Amino acid sequence: MTTTYAVLSEGLEKRFGEVRALRGLDLAVPQGTVCGILGPNGAGKTTAVRLLTTLLRPDAGSARVAGHDLVREAAAVRRAIGVTGQYASVDGDLTGRQNLRLFGRLHRVRGPAERADDLLARFGLTEAADRPAATYSGGMRRRLDLAASLIRRPDVLFLDEPTTGLDPASRGDIWDAVRELKQDGTTILLTTQYLEEADQLADDIALVDRGRVAHTGSPSQLKALIGTYVEVVVADADVLVQAAGVLDQLTGGEPSFDHARNSVGSVTRDTTLTLPRLVRELDAAGVPLLDASLKPPTLDDVFLRLTAEESTGEEVAA
Ligand SMILES: Nc1ncnc2c1ncn2[C@@H]1O[C@H](COP(=O)(O)OP(=O)(O)O)[C@@H](O)[C@H]1O
Ligand SMILES: [Mg+2]
Repeated sequence: MTTTYAVLSEGLEKRFGEVRALRGLDLAVPQGTVCGILGPNGAGKTTAVRLLTTLLRPDAGSARVAGHDLVREAAAVRRAIGVTGQYASVDGDLTGRQNLRLFGRLHRVRGPAERADDLLARFGLTEAADRPAATYSGGMRRRLDLAASLIRRPDVLFLDEPTTGLDPASRGDIWDAVRELKQDGTTILLTTQYLEEADQLADDIALVDRGRVAHTGSPSQLKALIGTYVEVVVADADVLVQAAGVLDQLTGGEPSFDHARNSVGSVTRDTTLTLPRLVRELDAAGVPLLDASLKPPTLDDVFLRLTAEESTGEEVAA
């Protein structure tokens, strides 16, 4: 079976004056999957979304989105996609219902009023439907934005940092919505600064650094690359070495001590290690434990690691 790609880009470049926002972006997003574009501020995520949604023209490179050429068939691309930007696109003076009806009419949706009501219900906005959007909370606004981008039932949905600035509950609502949309067969490309978010939602992650994809892989591949940080705090300095011995057996990593806190840490690439097992082994060894934790890697960890490798490679190439 051949893979059909909902988004396939090659060498996309975009320059703003002296700033090279994209320096050859290659992406391949299979139909029906969620792709997480992961990168820090300024990496080029929004520029990538604006290019792939035809809001900006690339300086170089090419892409096909939903089977259409990004530049030559821009109108067809626009008909097939939905986009929710980093900044709200709804009108604060209009109510939620009015906003969605307006979007529906603009996009010539059949039965815009009904479609608007369906979406309001789906995103838990029925009660707030007749209030001006300006009175909505951040999470409600983001849900309204998302609803607006779905008015035409897009094949490919672009979400630019859909949960940045939201509280955990609202973030969870957006995550649920993304999962549901994927189940309906929508291909989703979302950008994020959070490894955890990409981990929760994405089938594949493209790590973007300075306008280029520095690394691609599944979330677990990316996390395994860095490993999980295991830390143990003991009640008594005398048993620190003993704890380090247990840690060494479990993780195989180099132990690092923090004597001020009576703690020892180590990195493991073993994704099957669990906290209960760690505690059991330490307990069996008779180590009086105060605290133990497994810290999964963050974007910062992944990023530092992978982009350090990338920039070393570049210096050699330059
Ligand atoms: N319209 C613009 N004019 C000038 N510079 C821009 C513009 N848009 C983005 N940039 C620059 O391009 C780079 C990538 O920006 P952006 O795509 O917004 O990154 P991200 O979304 O990952 O934070 C940044 O250095 C940013 O300052
Ligand atoms: Mg951005």
